Amino acid sequence: MHLPQQQLGLRIGTMVTEFTATARAHSNIAFIKYWGNRDSGIRLPANSSLSMNLAALHSTTRVTWSEALAEDRLMINEEPAAPAAFLRVRAHLDTLRAELGSTLRADVSSNNNFPMGAGIASSASAFAALTVAATAALGMGLSARELSALARRGSGSAARSIPAGFVEWRAGSADKESYAESIASPDYWPLEDVIAVISRDHKHVGSTAGHAAADTSILQRVRVETAADRLERAKHAILARDFEGLAPVVEEDSNLMHAVMMTSKPSLFYWLPKSLRIMLAVQEWRRQGVKVCYTLDAGPNVHCICGAEDAAAVAARLKELDSDIEVIRSSVGGGAQLLNASDRSD
Ligand code: DP6
Repeated sequence: MHLPQQQLGLRIGTMVTEFTATARAHSNIAFIKYWGNRDSGIRLPANSSLSMNLAALHSTTRVTWSEALAEDRLMINEEPAAPAAFLRVRAHLDTLRAELGSTLRADVSSNNNFPMGAGIASSASAFAALTVAATAALGMGLSARELSALARRGSGSAARSIPAGFVEWRAGSADKESYAESIASPDYWPLEDVIAVISRDHKHVGSTAGHAAADTSILQRVRVETAADRLERAKHAILARDFEGLAPVVEEDSNLMHAVMMTSKPSLFYWLPKSLRIMLAVQEWRRQGVKVCYTLDAGPNVHCICGAEDAAAVAARLKELDSDIEVIRSSVGGGAQLLNASDRSD
């Protein structure tokens, strides 16, 4: 980590103390999913999860803590944030203030290099970047574990966007024990996520509400009880660079999470007919020898996890299947980092 960028500002003849830092974090895609919380107040998850950071998708966030501010402020992609996003960020700033012993208000400006409405979750990258920038600005030299546990409080999956590459988030049984760590660096295994964007519509039920409904499904208990076994299988496959071992467990875990969603009360259906068409095509392509498997988050877009050598072919096949499918490709990403003033442009 670089040293924090701190500044002292001067306003209308009076000395005003300001502390600024900028950080960047990547989005991630889970191979073993986080779905449901043991304690939703502090986002203590029901099960451990495993993911890969996405190099092509990131959030860059600047935080300025200032004595001159009476209230927090939030801009997202150069626009004032919508009320729901503002309230969620302010709640996280409250968590950070309590943790860091500060009463200062913050001016936050966050930019995603991918469109917000593209159906790709930005909460993981956004809350990871916010946590790193906000704590660095105050000169807190927190460890990667501490940052991961704090980012988790803003959005569970953000815990996994702090470390680099392939990442395991151990559920833990207390706040400080629930953090993510890297199991392999980004260059350990050249996988790609070829994302088939089939809908840009906003989710009808967001992840936070979905997590809250998880326990209303009779399948959630079984999913949670068996998650550790799937995680071990997926981890083993990653460490052995064994695609044939990884593919079935990634698809099974995604299917199980969606089975829980579909059997929650009220039921949540995130798949669209096109999602299923792609999932079946991916399985057929794998039978033909292509290194590809699918996983879906809380939305209809299909993440096709590929061996890098097969990613271009998978992107082309998706377009052949339906020319309306928008394809976004990403290799394995690094961890969250503080930025110097010179590398702040997207
Ligand atoms: C389906 O981290 O978005 O993508 O903690 O409420 O912010 P909050 O939920 P979030 O949930 C992610 C759910 C998922 C699976 C995963 O990424 O593990």
